[in-house]
Amino acid sequence: MNAIAEPENAGEAHGRAASKSAVILISGRGSNMQAIVEAGTGADVRAVISNRPDAKGLEWARGQGFATEAIDHTAFKTRDAFDAALAEAIERYDAGIILLAGFMRILGDGFIRRHERRILNIHPSLLPAFPGLHTHRRAIEAGVKVHGATVHFVTSELDGGPAVIQGVVPVMPDDTEETLAARVLQVEHRIYPQAVRWWVEGKIEFNAAGVVSVRGTGVITDSMISPGTAQ
Ligand code: GRF
Repeated sequence: MNAIAEPENAGEAHGRAASKSAVILISGRGSNMQAIVEAGTGADVRAVISNRPDAKGLEWARGQGFATEAIDHTAFKTRDAFDAALAEAIERYDAGIILLAGFMRILGDGFIRRHERRILNIHPSLLPAFPGLHTHRRAIEAGVKVHGATVHFVTSELDGGPAVIQGVVPVMPDDTEETLAARVLQVEHRIYPQAVRWWVEGKIEFNAAGVVSVRGTGVITDSMISPGTAQ
């Protein structure tokens, strides 16, 4: 028997016409965006939008033939004004899902509420551990033995929305922030496309408490124990 109770409002995530259309928001190099595109998730990426006109990822997206837009947050007096411009751009593409892929702006409450359960983010830690910035440095300082990344829905609580999928990596004794970041990034590139594919397939469900489950997924029966005992 499936240990996860059938959610009362199964399929609610797709209340808005089960759209496959997506808009990707980036701020930098865009390697997660690239992983999503290259994985062939079935999402119809309508546009890539960056709050930084010089984001490396924009060049790549342009080269792929995607519509791109730069909405420079520094050109707006208030966050509300930036949010409004961003919302207006996203609405133009009629996005079913908004994918934050290294998007380094905190979105306002109004924006998040209007797009409830339609914004995904990738965060480089095993949430709820290490929300916020400098996650790899903080993981090393805390001495945790496993670390990783989480794809989650965005709510008004920073990095606090329900998790869809998590990927775990070991923390090695000689890790630096950079080596650990590189290991986590590899797992990010696996889990974000997977979450997007599940969205497109309509498999993501919320239970009454807002917790996410994914219909038809397998269970991991083995544990990952770190450090290992092998020499
Ligand atoms: C990733 O580590 C992501 O988890 C974090 O910012 C980084 C973005 O990398 N939010 P990229 O722009 O996708 O290469």
